Amino acid sequence: MKTTDAAVLDEPKIHEPTADAVVEPAIEGRPRPTTVGIKDAKIYVDGKFYTEADAKVSVFDHGLLYGDGIFEGIRFYNGRVFRLGDHLDRLWDSARSICLEIPMTKQGMTEALLETIRQNHVRDGYVRLVVTRGIGNLGLNPTQCKWPSVIIIVAAITLYHENLYRKGLTIVTCATRRCNAGALNPAVKSLNYLNNVMARLEANLADADEALMLNDAGNVAECTADNVFVVKRGQIVTPPVTAGALRGITRSVAFEIAAELGFKTLKADITRHDIYVADECFLTGTAAEIVPVVKADGRVIGNGKPGPITTRIIARFREMTRETGTPIFA
Ligand SMILES: Cc1ncc(COP(=O)(O)O)c(C=O)c1O
Repeated sequence: MKTTDAAVLDEPKIHEPTADAVVEPAIEGRPRPTTVGIKDAKIYVDGKFYTEADAKVSVFDHGLLYGDGIFEGIRFYNGRVFRLGDHLDRLWDSARSICLEIPMTKQGMTEALLETIRQNHVRDGYVRLVVTRGIGNLGLNPTQCKWPSVIIIVAAITLYHENLYRKGLTIVTCATRRCNAGALNPAVKSLNYLNNVMARLEANLADADEALMLNDAGNVAECTADNVFVVKRGQIVTPPVTAGALRGITRSVAFEIAAELGFKTLKADITRHDIYVADECFLTGTAAEIVPVVKADGRVIGNGKPGPITTRIIARFREMTRETGTPIFA
């Protein structure tokens, strides 16, 4: 099994459903396993809580018809939501960019999100926060959509298998280029992720853990759901947002940790060559957390093992996720 299958593209790796992780009734009258890995999960849709089976949006929602909407993937650890403020700021930025008015305040969203976690009785997990354009007609004009929908889904998420952090990932460059900012700006975390899905398919077909996406200039942008970092002679480099990288929250945490540990970080264009000759390489993302890369396009990176700087950054990241964040149950 490829180690990242369930956890890339910001998808939570769901716990294998257990015998009691079952909701009833399924349409055919048979029990079915939960999608989110939580028994009796409660999903927030526009101010109300629904079971998995009853949580629905209209077929005329432009989120479905056109990928017109925005989202965030957020983690909570040990009863605290990690970097909630940063995620909400990015959600609001995405909304502003696509002229979508989120029908609540940041404070209201915070309360709804915390309450949704509480309703699901979990202390560690993943939250998918979605704002769709809302119901319109079949025309794509968003002015038809008067009421954006807010959806909050809480899911169980297991960390990658520890082996992955010890051994590192294999990535391949894919032919699918990261969307050009002039066409669809990758800085907007929109519901239109087909660009990333196409890249993910290529990773699957190449039997790799992740796909490396280049921009139109041939420089590295990011992976399908993670930012990319290289380490060379003690300096840590990652592509700038202008190269097509999402302004990742975990990316900024990695900057903070690097500074704390006394390493220099640089946002600069890098090519595949820079990855091949790096001493170390790692990816950052909410779902993937911070994970080493040891092979790219068949080339072994460094000595083929997670490097010492990466390992230190991961260790500090784990401390931060356990100890900081917005309290859920306070
Ligand atoms: C395309 C893309 N790049 C990078 C990331 C990593 O960003 P973050 O660390 O905020 O999860 C994500 C996940 O949100 C993503 O979808």
